[in-house]
Amino acid sequence: MKIGIVGGTGGMGEGFALRWSQKHDIIVGSREAQKAKEAADNYTKAAKEAFSGAMSGSISGDENFAVAKGADVLILSIPYEFIGDTCAKMSGQIRNDCIVVSPIVPMTRNDNGFIYIPLEQGKKPAAELVAEGLPPRSRIVSAFHTISEVKLKNVGQSLDADTFICGDDQGAVATLTGLVSEISGLRPVYLGPLSLSYQAEILTPMLLNAARRNKMKNPGVKLT
Ligand SMILES: NC(=O)c1ccc[n+]([C@@H]2O[C@H](COP(=O)([O-])OP(=O)(O)OC[C@H]3O[C@@H](n4cnc5c(N)ncnc54)[C@H](OP(=O)(O)O)[C@@H]3O)[C@@H](O)[C@H]2O)c1
Repeated sequence: MKIGIVGGTGGMGEGFALRWSQKHDIIVGSREAQKAKEAADNYTKAAKEAFSGAMSGSISGDENFAVAKGADVLILSIPYEFIGDTCAKMSGQIRNDCIVVSPIVPMTRNDNGFIYIPLEQGKKPAAELVAEGLPPRSRIVSAFHTISEVKLKNVGQSLDADTFICGDDQGAVATLTGLVSEISGLRPVYLGPLSLSYQAEILTPMLLNAARRNKMKNPGVKLT
């Protein structure tokens, strides 16, 4: 499968690239092609070391638009603030059968701690903004909100966590469920349609507040 990562030069992008490169062709995206290529070279070195050369996939890098055109699955790994702008530039580039994945968490900090932007500022959940910016809505799925980049990048570590998946199209959900299951120790848990994505997104500021106040490192979520 060809997995493109828009904003793949960030911490989450690195984690996705390393975790999936064992089996898939990963294309790391950036606003600057050269930055993407350098990141892809570094990730390739790290992946080869981690998997002792046993990689049937590959990692390459390119400008975000080129990445969007070629992907079977496209991860939008960018901050919430730039969804509108990025989607406006990318709309029309993405194939109609491409599955677009939002791990995006609308989060900021105030004096009380980490807060969920839609609740505090009356803005829309991340998945809703992506669906508005990149129709058709049916191809958008959301997941990975409560997975720490630190753990995701550490490919030798089993995540021992769940991740909630939201989406309207069962085929798209099934494809993402398969990709989630390929990540060691990560269990996919279907939460419901995309309109429920806010319930997964809001867990991240909650986790970070609990972690900060109780001196926990990169906690995750697991249903028992
Ligand atoms: N970090 C975590 O532990 C974590 C956990 C769960 C979910 N998430 C979510 O996952 C997403 C990615 O997280 P991250 O920590 O990897 O993000 P990040 O490092 O802050 O940003 C990722 C990439 O976004 C691109 N970017 C920055 N400004 C941009 C702009 N104005 N327009 C378009 N692209 C821009 C940059 O790539 P270029 O400069 O190369 O274009 C950057 O490397 C976020 O939405 C975050 O909420 C993060």
